Amino acid sequence: MDIALHGIEKSFGKLQALKPIDLHINNGDFVCLLGPSGCGKTTLLRIIGGLENADEGRIQFSDRLIFDQAKKINVQPQKRKIGMVFQDFALWPHMTVFENVAYGLRAQGRKAEVKDKVSEALANVQLGEHAKRYPHQLSGGQQQRVAIARAIANDPEIILMDEPLSALDATLRDEMRILLQSLVKKLGMTAIYVTHDQHEAMTMADQIVVMNDGNIMQQGSPEDVYREPENETVARFVGKGAVLEGMHRQADGIDYLQLNHQTRLPLPQKEHVDFADGTMLTVVIRPEQINLTKAPAETLLAGTVKTVSFLGEKYEVSFTVDGSDELLFANAKERMAPGDQVYFNIDTKSIHIIEKDGMNYVETA
Ligand SMILES: Nc1ncnc2c1ncn2[C@@H]1O[C@H](COP(=O)(O)OP(=O)(O)OP(=O)(O)O)[C@@H](O)[C@H]1O
Ligand SMILES: [Mg+2]
Repeated sequence: MDIALHGIEKSFGKLQALKPIDLHINNGDFVCLLGPSGCGKTTLLRIIGGLENADEGRIQFSDRLIFDQAKKINVQPQKRKIGMVFQDFALWPHMTVFENVAYGLRAQGRKAEVKDKVSEALANVQLGEHAKRYPHQLSGGQQQRVAIARAIANDPEIILMDEPLSALDATLRDEMRILLQSLVKKLGMTAIYVTHDQHEAMTMADQIVVMNDGNIMQQGSPEDVYREPENETVARFVGKGAVLEGMHRQADGIDYLQLNHQTRLPLPQKEHVDFADGTMLTVVIRPEQINLTKAPAETLLAGTVKTVSFLGEKYEVSFTVDGSDELLFANAKERMAPGDQVYFNIDTKSIHIIEKDGMNYVETA
């Protein structure tokens, strides 16, 4: 099912939680809505699910008009062919696992199918043997699997999930992530998954929709939003690394990126370097674009280590460039210590450079 939103707006009193939102989601895609707390993710998901009404706009599921404020069309949630999974599971405590999963089917009057559909849904989340238990007799992970079974039992074409794994511990979250991803693909559903966890979004999504302050900032594959963020907000919110202010300089026919008063990096000739001398830039430098070593060399810049985190397969090191207080992040194979003198170069061919929003500044000598 394709999902199309046109001009969706929502205010709560004076607060505009969603500015006009246009969004298109392709049939079968797993889409993550990613953004900081309060940016409007849950509100948008609830509007798509019909639990909340938009003030303006239109929603279409393929050819079906689901909501149109102007035409006063508003299809009831239970008729939208969606399943929903919430952060707090929202199971009925007085019902068995079987009855929790059967609830939607019974409500739709599909009595003849209940037994088969519930068994199939429970088997899909590997809970077949727990059908007679009550929610309080299950672990958190099992409860969330019941909630997923309930959401898929009546064959929805769209599944909406609001931070469904955030109440689970890290190991369980990894397991459930894999189960969810493969289940959604196996059943051929279109999925919208709300999270503020960029790691979750990167690992699960076909498409990431980055939101901020009621707006969509960027939509693209995880690779797109990581490698080619369209603005500073996306660059800061998605992916590790440094987001610095720089200036484009030209001298003797060579393009330079000036990061601070000392650091001038020659830029390779490529299309994105087509800026006028003095253009203010936002420069995104990911850890893997820096080579960091303790061995001095004339061709390298010098820096000083600030923090070191052991990540198992590597160390993540933050350091400052000597003569500046800007922090850069790099990966290292060897253990380093705060205060160590280090040497580095930056792979300027792969770093991402964006013109700083609305600023064009030329230095006067
Ligand atoms: N029913 C409501 N009444 C008043 N304000 C609301 C209501 N629901 C949401 N808001 C406000 O709308 C904004 C967006 O809220 P929303 O719950 O969509 O954010 P979110 O991106 O899901 O955040 P989080 O990551 O913390 O869950 C917030 O400022 C919130 O306080
Ligand atoms: Mg939310």
